[in-house]
Amino acid sequence: MGIILSKMRKKIVAGNWKMNKTLQEGLALATELNNVLTDASPKCEVIIGTPFIHLASVTSAVDTSKIHVSAQNCADKESGAYTGEVSASMIKSTGAEYVILGHSERRAYYGETHEILKEKVRLALKNELKPIFCIGESKEEREANKQNEVVKAQLEGSVFNLSVEEFSKVVLAYEPVWAIGTGLTATPDQAQEIHAYIRSLIAEKYGNEVAEDTTILYGGSCKPNNAKELFANPDVDGGLIGGASLKADDFKAIIDAF
Ligand code: PGA
Repeated sequence: MGIILSKMRKKIVAGNWKMNKTLQEGLALATELNNVLTDASPKCEVIIGTPFIHLASVTSAVDTSKIHVSAQNCADKESGAYTGEVSASMIKSTGAEYVILGHSERRAYYGETHEILKEKVRLALKNELKPIFCIGESKEEREANKQNEVVKAQLEGSVFNLSVEEFSKVVLAYEPVWAIGTGLTATPDQAQEIHAYIRSLIAEKYGNEVAEDTTILYGGSCKPNNAKELFANPDVDGGLIGGASLKADDFKAIIDAF
């Protein structure tokens, strides 16, 4: 009938370890999580975002069909004389599948602009890494009721240049800066409201079907005790978890919220 049925969008719980865990500690955590998930049948995809140096060891230590592995950043250059940087192709070569880009800590502490992030997203996709692209407003912006314009500018500045095919590989994470690591969480209503707005922007840009298929995660003090009510919202497709991803039990409890 000429109607293309939309595929059900993916539910995801992704951990962002940030700059935590030595290699040995990280391997122990990944192995523990792997064991905990061996006999479980999670109702969502599970991703762990580790520091660069953990990636290759972690992808060998876990069952990557159960635990998908992500980097937390990549260079905005392909290769060459950029001391200390790690390229998207290097990340890909470790067996990692995803890369977190545009995290508010990268934007705030390392000066990552829309333009820089646009280039990182491009290079990630070129190297067959799926970006988990983070957007979200600061406390001041929320107080000034500017959250919608902030997320719109972030999308327009770095990912709305992509083709439909490219954009369909992107996972979005809405992370209000005021909720990250603060213990303050967006209420389920606040999360639903802005997730629905983000989805409406995607629909305007790429059409309804793409919007319906885009996974939009919530991040910011998501914990075992609030994950369920956040994930129950129709436009919240899972979480990007910082602090609570550092303990296998807490992370598993969030996965079980689905
Ligand atoms: P948090 O971090 O869960 O510790 O608030 C979330 C994130 O920054 O991705």
